[in-house]
Amino acid sequence: MSAESIVRRAVCPGSFDPVTNGHLDIISRAADLYDEIVVAVLVNKSKSSLFTVEERISLLTEVTQSYGNVRVDYFHGLLVEYCRARQIPVIVKGLRAVSDFDYELQMAQMNRGLAGVDTLFMPTNPEYSFLASSLVKEIATYGGDVSSLLPELVHKRLLERLEEQTRARRADSGQLR
Ligand code: PNS
Repeated sequence: MSAESIVRRAVCPGSFDPVTNGHLDIISRAADLYDEIVVAVLVNKSKSSLFTVEERISLLTEVTQSYGNVRVDYFHGLLVEYCRARQIPVIVKGLRAVSDFDYELQMAQMNRGLAGVDTLFMPTNPEYSFLASSLVKEIATYGGDVSSLLPELVHKRLLERLEEQTRARRADSGQLR
């Protein structure tokens, strides 16, 4: 294969429950640096999530479709095994604050040691330095406005899901009778 035909590929892994503007900031900047970005959703059955893996993939696919060189996939188990099987040499991670760094550095060194897969750290846009999917869900659950933190479609689906949950809880406790 000639040097010109080598595809420079990187993975943006995560739970994406749901994808936020902070994730999109990192994915779009990574897409400017690499020929192809694979956004890989971790399938983690032991962790409860608001959206199913299929729903998260569908949301990610819709909000990244304008990027052209981004595709969405899922993985089980070790990220480096996924990378090895698909010949992806680089993991791209966003760093929001110094507090992210300790754990991210540890994972990056482990992944490099396990399989020679390197990690590129990108500082997040300061606008999103406080942003986490878990916080967004918590704030929205209590009626806070998170519309500026999520793509419009994701915001709509989040409110719908929370509404469904509220109805289900009310039905369970007999309040709809
Ligand atoms: O969005 P998250 O939950 O912060 O993403 C964390 C993720 C999925 C990137 C990380 O937990 C991961 O890579 N998990 C896969 C399992 C694995 O490879 N563990 C060893 C890390 S050294």
